[in-house]
Amino acid sequence: MSSAPLEQSRTHPPVPRPRTGSPALDGVGSRLTEVIPAPVSVRPTPGVRYLLTAGTTIRTSDDPAALAVGEHLADLLRPATGHPLPVATLAADDTPPADTVTLLLEPATEPAPATEPDGGYRLDVTAEQVVIRAATATGLFYGVQTLRQLLPAEIESTTVAPGPWEVPGGQIVDAPRFAYRGAMLDVSRHFFEMPDVLRFVDQLARYKLNHLHLHLTDDQGWRIAIASWPRLAEIGGATEVDGGTGGYYTQADYRTIVEYAAARRITVVPEIDLPGHTNAALSAYGELAPDGVAPAPYTGTEVGFSSVAVASERTYDFVDDVLGELAALTPGPYLHIGGDEAFKLDATDYGTVMNRVQRIVAAKSKTVVGWHQLAPAEHVPGRVLQYWGTTTSDENVASAVRQGARVIMSPGNRTYLDMKYTDATTLGQDWAGLIDVRTAYDWDPGTYLDGVPAESVLGVEAPLWTETIRTVAEIEFMTYPRLVAVAELAWSPATTHDWDNFRLRLAAHSPRWTHANIHFHPSPEIPWPPTQ
Ligand code: ACM
Repeated sequence: MSSAPLEQSRTHPPVPRPRTGSPALDGVGSRLTEVIPAPVSVRPTPGVRYLLTAGTTIRTSDDPAALAVGEHLADLLRPATGHPLPVATLAADDTPPADTVTLLLEPATEPAPATEPDGGYRLDVTAEQVVIRAATATGLFYGVQTLRQLLPAEIESTTVAPGPWEVPGGQIVDAPRFAYRGAMLDVSRHFFEMPDVLRFVDQLARYKLNHLHLHLTDDQGWRIAIASWPRLAEIGGATEVDGGTGGYYTQADYRTIVEYAAARRITVVPEIDLPGHTNAALSAYGELAPDGVAPAPYTGTEVGFSSVAVASERTYDFVDDVLGELAALTPGPYLHIGGDEAFKLDATDYGTVMNRVQRIVAAKSKTVVGWHQLAPAEHVPGRVLQYWGTTTSDENVASAVRQGARVIMSPGNRTYLDMKYTDATTLGQDWAGLIDVRTAYDWDPGTYLDGVPAESVLGVEAPLWTETIRTVAEIEFMTYPRLVAVAELAWSPATTHDWDNFRLRLAAHSPRWTHANIHFHPSPEIPWPPTQ
């Protein structure tokens, strides 16, 4: 299928940077105050900078997870610098050699991980060295993502660039606001091959997002191989919206995604959408359909017309087998069971099927996540509702929260990455509204929904539905820069929230995206640097 042109998408040629000059002139110092998501605190040391050179080494605490983060840092920096950047561990009493980037696991580092969420770190840059301290390897990983942003934009280049590789002096102390910071990719409406998903994971990692929600099944395609029900993927995965050839992940592909994500501190949240959005499954196994007859494959974009047979025990065998295999493949705590737009079922039948599905998830020792229409189903401990409504109150959600449910905030008119930016956007939909950058950024997940206090907000997720999205370039055009705005809402303290400041920081990031070959929407709300 050919890719639609990305209207107005642009890439910058490399932005020339003076080789010498004061921090104020060459922008080195300002990089410290341009970090996204905004850190808890930033203290520049004016006039001081660390120069990363061919002689720089990376040292980590003597711990396999810390060492892995050190290797990740070297992998990020070697292509553009061309420097060897050898990585080694330090014995407990060693002092790092001069000219070193050191990653230290120090349990007492503030902000400590004893206070959830995990991921705090401290980063100190002097003329002699860079030191990142954290109580966990996750914190070190986030410190590394920050360090990446302190280097010139050319650090994102996949080929050797001249540098100089200057890091502004100062200190950053940082920790995440919410535990769940995510994005969703719909691989059902259009299928995306495993390497495309890995690239999406990289986009999440650079802005400290830590959950990848994969919408694996829907009316148009079943995308994960299930050994006990092989026709789900073989038949249910054979097409997609507009009749393309579709596809599915083997269990080995899925494991590769899980491992690649885990190395980037990202938890995969797999979704099997039930009881509606199931035409692909029904087309593979007619016995699951209410009338026992397999429907034709579906390649359109309507919603709400399919349902599994609520009264048939085969339905629950199917759910148990599928969720059992998925639970075994998924080290993360969550199984997402959909629950949205089940228009074919009345409330009683909906409750019957979803109460049983929730209990099946609990029996697999996993935590239920569902779209917020799941709220009226019975409370199971720890369950999480994903709010995708377009209003700021929902009594069913508030009531579930009073019983202990937690909420992932994905308001459709704020976070849906498939909504058009403006009327002129050729890709995407507009049923939840037009979402340009300010709309995506200017709200507070902790106070947004009536009856859902910040303590009940597990986090924030931006879903990308793909009815109109076919290529990686299109994914990135819809994702950038809105996902970056959502990442800041999910990570940064509410006290840092400031649209006028955010739009300047965001503008400063566009050369990074260009060097990384990331397409983005050049929103007129943002003062992008000249492309010259
Ligand atoms: C949804 O957008 N149907 C969750």
